[in-house]
Amino acid sequence: MKDTKIAIIGGGNLGQSILKGLLANKEYLPKNITITKRNISELSVFEKSGVNVIPDNSKAVTNSDIIILALKPYTVLTVLDEILPKLDPKKHELVSLASGVSIAQLNDVIQNKVPIYRAMPNTASKVGEAITCIASNTKNINPRIEDCFQSIGSTIQIDEELMDAATVLGACGIAFALRFIRSMVQGGVQIGFDSKTASEIVNQTVKGAAALLVEEGNHPEFEIDKVTTPKGCTIVGLNEMEHNGFSSALIKGITKSHDAIEA
Ligand SMILES: NC(=O)c1ccc[n+]([C@@H]2O[C@H](COP(=O)([O-])OP(=O)(O)OC[C@H]3O[C@@H](n4cnc5c(N)ncnc54)[C@H](OP(=O)(O)O)[C@@H]3O)[C@@H](O)[C@H]2O)c1
Repeated sequence: MKDTKIAIIGGGNLGQSILKGLLANKEYLPKNITITKRNISELSVFEKSGVNVIPDNSKAVTNSDIIILALKPYTVLTVLDEILPKLDPKKHELVSLASGVSIAQLNDVIQNKVPIYRAMPNTASKVGEAITCIASNTKNINPRIEDCFQSIGSTIQIDEELMDAATVLGACGIAFALRFIRSMVQGGVQIGFDSKTASEIVNQTVKGAAALLVEEGNHPEFEIDKVTTPKGCTIVGLNEMEHNGFSSALIKGITKSHDAIEA
């Protein structure tokens, strides 16, 4: 059990997903976690778990060591200005999850008073399966920051210039993967399964495909070769998908999504 105290400032979609992951992992005591938002009524379920649920960001900072800013990009600088007087260089580290707001912009407000990182997790944090890309303007990331995000999945350190790419691949990627799964289910219904059974088969198949890559460390095509019997139904299906632009649609979608962040 770790004794680090964590504040999640901005208990919306992502803030709540992270909190659920932290609670499920049980490495942090609920009493050592604080979550804020202005309207806290929808967070009452967490209060019952022993988490501190408050609307006061400054108080949350005072009570914590790691401050996770799970705020919209247009709110983060204002809230940073609000909590600035409470930041203690001997104690605090900040992690901003806001897309498109650079470490330099964040430091303009806090004047390098405490270490600041950017992190890009995804909503799979809720089930302990997030990938969190972390960028820092110092060489080393304090292990307690990595520990915090490893308790909701895996972490990877990246250059800050790749943060937008991380947003598309890791955070938007959840939606891309889910749309792929939905399409598989729709196909499954057309070939005879009811939707519930099709979902059960597809969910586990996709989880299994990812596990093959994660656990064996192989390239996808290596595993595909094992499934594609010459003249068999798999290669026929795959090639039909490719003739209809499957890989191309995904790659174009990813690059368009990236363009949209940078616009
Ligand atoms: N969703 C994702 O998958 C994902 C992944 C990676 C990164 N991100 C980034 O994470 C950030 C949050 O995204 P989200 O989807 O979680 O947004 P969200 O659901 O809108 O959550 C933001 C929360 O901030 C609260 N808030 C607003 N002003 C506040 C203030 N002054 N003090 C305290 N809380 C305040 C809001 O609640 P009240 O209005 O009640 O205060 C709201 O619940 C964004 O910058 C996004 O780019 C999202």
